[in-house]
Amino acid sequence: MNTDEPVRPPVPPVRRSVLVWDAPTRLFHWLVVALVTAAYVTLKLNWIDWHVRVGEALLALLIFRLLWGCFGSETARFRRFLASPAAALGHLRHLFRRDDDTQVGHNAAGGWMVMLLLALLLIETLSGLYLNNDIADEGPLSEWVPAWLANAIASVHALGWDVLLAAVVVHVLVIALYAVVKGHNLVRPMLTGYKPLPPSVAVPQQRPTWLALVLLAVGAAVVTLLATYL
Ligand code: HEM
Repeated sequence: MNTDEPVRPPVPPVRRSVLVWDAPTRLFHWLVVALVTAAYVTLKLNWIDWHVRVGEALLALLIFRLLWGCFGSETARFRRFLASPAAALGHLRHLFRRDDDTQVGHNAAGGWMVMLLLALLLIETLSGLYLNNDIADEGPLSEWVPAWLANAIASVHALGWDVLLAAVVVHVLVIALYAVVKGHNLVRPMLTGYKPLPPSVAVPQQRPTWLALVLLAVGAAVVTLLATYL
């Protein structure tokens, strides 16, 4: 055996930068984070008019996201990331295993977390529209519902907030866990859109930004109609 041969360091697998999150999905995410924070601050300061406006903006964004989940870029589509509960559980079994990050878009378990967050945000924003309790809070559609129902909706709105915050804490903790335990940086792609992936991984298809703007306009129009006429 020739002991003089130089020891070569292991060659890192070749990777190239792939756009995994389009700009509309990223903007949606960080605007939701900003608006949820604004909803909390405006409520604490008792700026109810602003709280209602923030809720309406959130609802318009959510309607956009639901449409983008049907007609948007590949990784934003529900059909692409909604996996069976068995697949989600299968993914969770490897949660504590350090492995290569070759994931494009949400993983099988993350997809369910995304749906939970979207559902909770929808419950919060829709219940806020009809909110009218015995204290002082009023939503734009309050006069359309009887007092007993409005109070029930107010309870849903209050409880929904706590559940949403708990889900956000889990969401952020899981992302931290991915970074620390698995060595996967999920935040950078959500900021820049790009992720280093091996050449064997197919590049996801993107839809044009003008389509996102049209769908956002639809979201804004629906909220305006709801808040003005219904
Ligand atoms: C109010 C707080 C938050 C809410 C309501 C929220 C909600 C969401 C939603 C709905 C998605 C899915 C995005 C989509 O497909 O449209 C998502 C994904 C994501 N969020 Fe958040 N988020 C919050 C805070 C944060 C924070 C503080 C971070 C950074 C630590 C973060 C990092 C991420 C990342 C990295 C993803 C992509 C996960 C993946 O790769 O599958 N989020 N979040």
